[in-house]
Formats: sequence, C-alpha cells, structure tokens
Amino acid sequence: MEIGGVEVIELGYEFRSDYWNKGYATEAAAAVRDFAFLQLHLPRLTSLVRVGNLRAMRVSEKIGMSRTADVTHNNRQYWQYSIDRKREPSNAKRGT
Ligand SMILES: CC(C)(COP(=O)(O)OP(=O)(O)OC[C@H]1O[C@@H](n2cnc3c(N)ncnc32)[C@H](O)[C@@H]1OP(=O)(O)O)[C@@H](O)C(=O)NCCC(=O)NCCS
Repeated sequence: MEIGGVEVIELGYEFRSDYWNKGYATEAAAAVRDFAFLQLHLPRLTSLVRVGNLRAMRVSEKIGMSRTADVTHNNRQYWQYSIDRKREPSNAKRGT
C-alpha cells in the first residue's frame, strides 16, 4: 500500500471477537514479522491502527513496532506503527 506517496508493506490482523485476548493476534503477527524479515528479507513492516484502537495498538507494540506517524488514509485517521529489520553483522561470530 502507499502512505503519503511512500510504498509500504502492511501487516494487518483481524480475528473473530470470541477469540480475542488469547494472544492469537500477537502470536500470528510475530510469526509473519519473522517470516517477512528472515525469509523475505523485507526492510520494514508497517501497520495502520485506527486512532483509539487500543487492542490493535497493543498487538503492534508487543511485536516490537513503534508509532512513527499519525496519518490520514482514505479520509480516516490512523496511528502508523512500523518495525525495521535489524541489520545483521556481516562478520558475526558466535560468542564464547
Ligand atoms: C486487534 C485484534 C486483532 C487483537 O487480537 P487478539 O488476538 O485479541 O490480540 P492479543 O490477544 O494478541 O493481544 C491483545 C492485547 O490488547 C489488550 N487489550 C484488550 N482489550 C483492551 C482494551 N479495551 N484496551 C486496551 N488494551 C486492550 C490485551 O490485554 C492484550 O494486551 P496484553 O497482552 O498487553 O495484555 C482483534 O481485537 C481484532 O480482530 N479486532 C478487530 C479488527 C481490528 O481492529 N484489526 C486491527 C486493524 S489494525
């Protein structure tokens, strides 16, 4: 998707309400995050959280995202959450 003229890769989540608050969204989102960074080598993931959606905000925070901007998208207000892939040291050695 495009936000403010910048192409971003969005991570979104939606579960049936009778399965909320069991950690499922966090577990699934963390698995997608790991796959996106470790297998696909994507540089960054972004989530658009509707302003005031504290459940979605918590999921974003729990998978390591930070709020990077407040944006208007399709005439709706969102908190933009993002996480960058950590740079891997080129000559990493195992600790002794
Ligand atoms: C957002 C959504 C995916 C979360 O799914 P979930 O499986 O319940 O998420 P988790 O159980 O992994 O985590 C929920 C967190 O929100 C917290 N939470 C629940 N109700 C809350 C509330 N009213 N206020 C603040 N935090 C709340 C929980 O305590 C938990 O955080 P914690 O582990 O720190 O205690 C789910 O609510 C949903 O499908 N909502 C409708 C669609 C939606 O809003 N999608 C997000 C679009 S960005």
